[in-house]
Amino acid sequence: MTIGILKEIATEKRVALLPEAVGELVKQGHEVLVETGAGTSAWVSDSDYQKAGATVVPRDKVKQAPLLLGIHAPDAVEMAALKGEQVFVGAVNPLGDKALADAAVKAGLSLFSLDIIPRTTRAQAMDVLSSMATVSGYKAVLTAASLLPRFFPMFMSAAGTIKPAKMLILGAGVAGLQAIATARKLGAVVEVFDVRSAVKEEVKSLGGKFIEVEGAREDAAAGGYAVEQTEEFKQKQRQLIHERASAADVVIATAQIPGRKAPVLITRATVEAMRPGSLIIDLAASTGGNCELTKNNETYVHQEVTIMGKSDFPSEMPTDASRMYGRNMLNFLKLMLQKDGSLKLDFADDLITGTCVAHQGEIVSERVKQFLVQ
Ligand code: NAI
Repeated sequence: MTIGILKEIATEKRVALLPEAVGELVKQGHEVLVETGAGTSAWVSDSDYQKAGATVVPRDKVKQAPLLLGIHAPDAVEMAALKGEQVFVGAVNPLGDKALADAAVKAGLSLFSLDIIPRTTRAQAMDVLSSMATVSGYKAVLTAASLLPRFFPMFMSAAGTIKPAKMLILGAGVAGLQAIATARKLGAVVEVFDVRSAVKEEVKSLGGKFIEVEGAREDAAAGGYAVEQTEEFKQKQRQLIHERASAADVVIATAQIPGRKAPVLITRATVEAMRPGSLIIDLAASTGGNCELTKNNETYVHQEVTIMGKSDFPSEMPTDASRMYGRNMLNFLKLMLQKDGSLKLDFADDLITGTCVAHQGEIVSERVKQFLVQ
């Protein structure tokens, strides 16, 4: 099988596969074409790919490969030029962009998106959302530490005692738990909100304090995810968050509900009640943000509080983010690549159907179908 690796869009520093992952495909007998300069922003040169056994060629040549790997989707013009028998695997956010599924249907190619893979035990090794959330949770805390005009840990020195910074984390999913662990290592005092009671013990074991709001709706059918809350619960929760945020130095917001707008947990009044110099890092920014004042991928100061809306932290740590993404990708490709080197799409496999946005002019993923009729 000839496998092509495309260079990402200009704002993206990651690459779908690092040379170490390319080397594994080459060892399995595949021919790998890498677009010139694909790894430059992740500190990987063309010659590193050549040493791993790949051939470095211009984009037009890579686009001929029957199996194309990337992160972001090709634009509509490029997508339209791909052939029906080609397969593209990326993480293309099909639940955030209706035009994309349309373009894939029109082009007739098979489009797979790892960011919609079912969250099952078997899929864990392919779960790019978890990998990238790990990077985001870690980077959010380090960014907060460098922006905050205070120390994170408690200091007892000849110049007196400095109290530890107080951090509030909203949402204890993969990003939130990583943020708790990183903040605790740096010595911050951490309080945490989530609507899923299952995370209470995990929060405690990482050294965070779980703040419970009574009356949260949970639904076993949601596959471990959060569900929309009642208006009464939301008001109670916003009031408690208002109290805790007013006393915090840093708020890291990660709360999301799959396929929906992120819940607004921090109102303008809460921001205005926060301490001068404090900051909010909103990782839910791409789905609207947990803070009413968040602007995606913008940082600004509102009444002495810095608000950072951030959805591209993985791109700011491109080496390890690409390493994790590539490992997830290789694990997923095992479901498609046969021992004889051929490619087989087994639609009886729930991970293949769950991840397939479109195939031969039809939408396959049930989640994408539901999103398109919303
Ligand atoms: P996510 O990014 O969808 O949401 C982040 C967190 O925000 C979640 O913990 C959610 O409960 C919380 N949240 C939502 N609404 C909230 C509100 N109003 N107030 C406070 N918190 C709120 O979640 P993520 O990180 O993608 O994963 C969530 C869960 O999915 C995991 O804890 C796990 O149970 C499951 N999962 C399963 C995997 C697998 O088996 N392959 C892999 C990763 C996650």
